[in-house]
Amino acid sequence: MNQGTRIDRLVGEHAAKLSERLLAHRAQLFPPNSAKQLRRFTSGEVAELLGVKDAYLRKLGLEGRGPQPETGPGGRRLYTSNDIMALRRMLEAGAKTPGTYLPGRRKNDHLQVITVVNFKGGSGKTTTAAHLAQKCALDGYRVLAIDLDPQASFSALHGFQPEFDLLDGGTLYDAIRYEDPEPMRKIIRQTYFTNLDLVPGNLDLMEFEHDTPRVLAARSGQMFFTRIAEKLAEVEADYDLVIFDCPPQLGFLTMSALSAATAVLVTVHPQMLDVMSMCQFLLMTSNLLGVVAEAGGNMEYDWLRYLVTRYEPGDGPQNQMVSFMRSLFGEHVLNHAMLKSTAISDAGVTKQTLYEIDKGSLTRSTYDRALESLNAVNGEIEALIQKAWGR
Ligand SMILES: Nc1ncnc2c1ncn2[C@@H]1O[C@H](COP(=O)(O)OP(=O)(O)OP(=O)(O)O)[C@@H](O)[C@H]1O
Ligand SMILES: [Mg+2]
Repeated sequence: MNQGTRIDRLVGEHAAKLSERLLAHRAQLFPPNSAKQLRRFTSGEVAELLGVKDAYLRKLGLEGRGPQPETGPGGRRLYTSNDIMALRRMLEAGAKTPGTYLPGRRKNDHLQVITVVNFKGGSGKTTTAAHLAQKCALDGYRVLAIDLDPQASFSALHGFQPEFDLLDGGTLYDAIRYEDPEPMRKIIRQTYFTNLDLVPGNLDLMEFEHDTPRVLAARSGQMFFTRIAEKLAEVEADYDLVIFDCPPQLGFLTMSALSAATAVLVTVHPQMLDVMSMCQFLLMTSNLLGVVAEAGGNMEYDWLRYLVTRYEPGDGPQNQMVSFMRSLFGEHVLNHAMLKSTAISDAGVTKQTLYEIDKGSLTRSTYDRALESLNAVNGEIEALIQKAWGR
């Protein structure tokens, strides 16, 4: 054995070094207080989000109705995400069809809980969840995103670095732990995105995986799979949608999220090994949820869809895999796929989504194609959301 190199110490040293550099990287990206801010949106983008003409927005501005845009370089009119929401409220008040500008819940509509899952790592769960959450927020839904992954990639994308920003807890674990759980409101944080709140993740979440077998063994009558749903009930009136970004494993957290879910989105990269892995995931999910159902768990849901991720339309084998899935699962595969794009991965390097990044920093055609694909996917999901409310 190599003397003097204890693995625990070596790994600890590496973690300390890496963590220091990551913090420096963040300080560089988001100076000086390292809080993330959202860019402004051009009047063209806002018009498209609202489904009105740019000229109409200009007219509203000139008449002094609603928020006044900032004037940017070249006389461009720029709006904040708050402004977009203010415009939505104003336009909704005068809309002929209710819900035209505020598409969220109405009386008697249920809170929708969308769980993004697959136990294959890197299948695009976090990327999908983040773009869906942000687009829904921009579209006027009140969104609560919950990071269930101890790796906390979703939180990192939203400006939280788990080992620095959550020193005294603050993950969902605090609210669902068996002893002395915190109220849900205490762990929800606002983000720099209007309409998007977040419960961040970090390694504390692993505790739930460790505690649960003990609680089950003690036969105390406490049930793990109801804990998330019960906590969501505390804040359900504040949101239209809850979106869970799950870890790449089928543990007690993922199962509890699935039990709380009203909709399930399975992300899958269309390659043989990934599809085979998904098959195992589906088998295991079915078995485990079957047990939960027998114990009284609620398995009602509005929809389940497979989303093809990191799709390369020119790739023959991928197309075969996609056709294969469509032939098996039919309408359960979303029509639109999330294209593989350097715009998405490049934005990820600076911890941003495509909705956040300043498009000036990307090749125009690459950006447009990626954005079109994301909007198409999110639009399809939003249609399912509306349908679940009977619209
Ligand atoms: N459409 C895409 N185009 C290009 N890169 C992508 C795309 N979707 C995801 N990626 C990249 O692939 C990697 C994995 O994606 P992501 O983190 O979303 O997967 P995940 O399923 O959440 O992974 P994990 O299982 O580890 O949580 C990331 O680096 C991400 O930037
Ligand atoms: Mg992830």
